[in-house]
Amino acid sequence: MSFDLLVRNVSLPDGRRGLDVGVTAGRITAVEPGLPADAGRVVDGGGRLLSPPFVDIHFHMDATLSLGIPRLNRSGTLLEGIRLWGELKPLLTVEAVVERALRYCDLAVAQGLLAVRSHVDVCDDRLVGVEALLHVKDAVKDYLDLQLVAFPQDGYYRSPTVAANLARALDMGVEVVGGIPHFERTMEDGRRSVTALCELAAERGLLVDLHCDETDDPMSRHIETLACETRRLGLQGRVAGSHLTSMHSMDNYYASKLLPLIAEADIHCIPNPLANIVLQGRHDTYPKRRGMMRVPELMALGVTVALGQDSCMDPWYSFGGADMLEVAHMAVHTGHMTSRAAVAACFDAVTTAPAKVFGLQGYGLEPGCHADFVLLDARDPIEAVRLKPNRLAVVRRGKVIAETPPRTATLSLPGRPGTVEPWLYAPVEGGSP
Ligand code: FE2
Repeated sequence: MSFDLLVRNVSLPDGRRGLDVGVTAGRITAVEPGLPADAGRVVDGGGRLLSPPFVDIHFHMDATLSLGIPRLNRSGTLLEGIRLWGELKPLLTVEAVVERALRYCDLAVAQGLLAVRSHVDVCDDRLVGVEALLHVKDAVKDYLDLQLVAFPQDGYYRSPTVAANLARALDMGVEVVGGIPHFERTMEDGRRSVTALCELAAERGLLVDLHCDETDDPMSRHIETLACETRRLGLQGRVAGSHLTSMHSMDNYYASKLLPLIAEADIHCIPNPLANIVLQGRHDTYPKRRGMMRVPELMALGVTVALGQDSCMDPWYSFGGADMLEVAHMAVHTGHMTSRAAVAACFDAVTTAPAKVFGLQGYGLEPGCHADFVLLDARDPIEAVRLKPNRLAVVRRGKVIAETPPRTATLSLPGRPGTVEPWLYAPVEGGSP
């Protein structure tokens, strides 16, 4: 048998080790030890982790890399971020949004991030962001799957043209219905927006992904309406609640009722730990709430939890670098998810879980799947989350599309080795002292 590409001696996220992965015509055709080295290209995995590509299920590509235009967010709050974005919006051009988005996609590919769900603001009557990101979606389709959400950033009911703009964006090819019920003028407007947006998605056969309860207000409970409407309209498995930061502050009794409602409605939950932890709690003195939804509790109920990056160098978040392992690392810390099983669950929450929410077909490392994967300079998912290691090779449809050398430092220390590799320091339970 001859392969187009053979990756030798890798570990897989499920714990299997010492396997070879053979690729033919863009698909994985064999996963077993000792495959014949008869291939167009052979990559030596050296026992390292081969993962399916990272998936970012919550991002804002129309705003990315706009940090400082026209000014910086001085208070660091979500609301100033929205105001700042409102100042930038009239200045946007299709060309500028496309240029920034394409630069971001280059970075994403280098990080093994090959699928992104991006919200795109539909409140600008020109729909500049929609036009730009639809262009980008087509331009990158051979190497990155981009899914767009029609997002009424300033509120579905706050301006008279937004409902028509959102419908127009869907007509143009945007695939997911977005919303922001907690930012409508009243709780009642928020409730009505959840109903209207779910009905719109049901009529058009689309997915739903709402920015929902992104606030420290424990009484912001639009997720309850979202769960109810999901069941009423038969949208189970097709609806996501993004952020859900109010859940952090909710009364424990209420949460004990709410979480099973979310599970019953099969709503996917999307925390964004990097942005949430710096945007929430800004009105608190001490203790400061950090605005994370109840991730381990949701996972324990079987809810699909997928982590998003949300922002990268934009009005809301001035850090980030398309590194979904950084997102998983922050989730481990904010959720007290330090057990081996919990860290592995956070790795799944930036790979298999978001792939399911996205609806990616042919995702995974079994024979028959697309030959899309990332070779990491780590030996297992826990080490990957700990080290956020270099992506040694990124493969899309059987072709190596990005490579980064291993991270090593050269030392000049008396009586010590000349180089150091961070992954050598992984702990072994029960090892010698
Ligand atoms: Fe967001």
